[in-house]
Amino acid sequence: MGFVIAVDGPAASGKGTIAVKLGALYGYPVLDSGLLYRAVGVKVLERGQDLGDEAAALDAARSLDPAELEQPRVRTRAAGEAASRVAVYSPVRRALREFQQAFAAREPGAVIDGRDIGTVIAPHAPAKLYVTATPEVRAQRRWKQLTGQGEAVTFEEILADIRVRDERDSARADSPMTMAADAVLLDTTEMTIDAAFDAARRIVETARSRWETAKG
Ligand code: CDP
Repeated sequence: MGFVIAVDGPAASGKGTIAVKLGALYGYPVLDSGLLYRAVGVKVLERGQDLGDEAAALDAARSLDPAELEQPRVRTRAAGEAASRVAVYSPVRRALREFQQAFAAREPGAVIDGRDIGTVIAPHAPAKLYVTATPEVRAQRRWKQLTGQGEAVTFEEILADIRVRDERDSARADSPMTMAADAVLLDTTEMTIDAAFDAARRIVETARSRWETAKG
């Protein structure tokens, strides 16, 4: 395994932005694993199927084409909600695992952000971050992002979404959202994105020195 950087955490914690910036810093490819679940949810809805239908979700996951991650529709509020509904199904998670693990195996390194990267997808990742912030601050960030994309939605609606999603992602029987024992917690509540990235970079640099020493 190369230098894999696992960036986990709840919705709108800033993990995606941090992951992209780390990728640019090291020249590594970046995978936003949430897009996989979002694309599966969107596909189920586009086929006119029910998000409560596990077999439909599994079929959507198995037939997923990486090009589907690029559709603007996967970035909507509805897609985020659909993603967390299909993400509770273990067979769906298994179907998406191979793609993520192949990405993690890329040399000389890769950055992946999600919920279970440091715990399930790449438990041996040399660098693990768990990025968090209060629900209110996360809702504020997500509200800005979605209204910037043209969605008509209130702050209160987004805050409610975030609370439901945190609860669903944490209560999941398979791969619940939890911090890996060897991850470093980064609370970005009071941080600007530049400050958060700076803190993340320092954590990753420490992990990198340790990894290089261990490699010999
Ligand atoms: O962008 P945001 O943080 O709202 O969410 P996301 O990372 O795009 O993920 C959307 C949903 O997919 C999450 O609420 C999880 O339910 C699910 N997910 C997951 O189960 N495992 C991952 N590695 C990534 C996302």
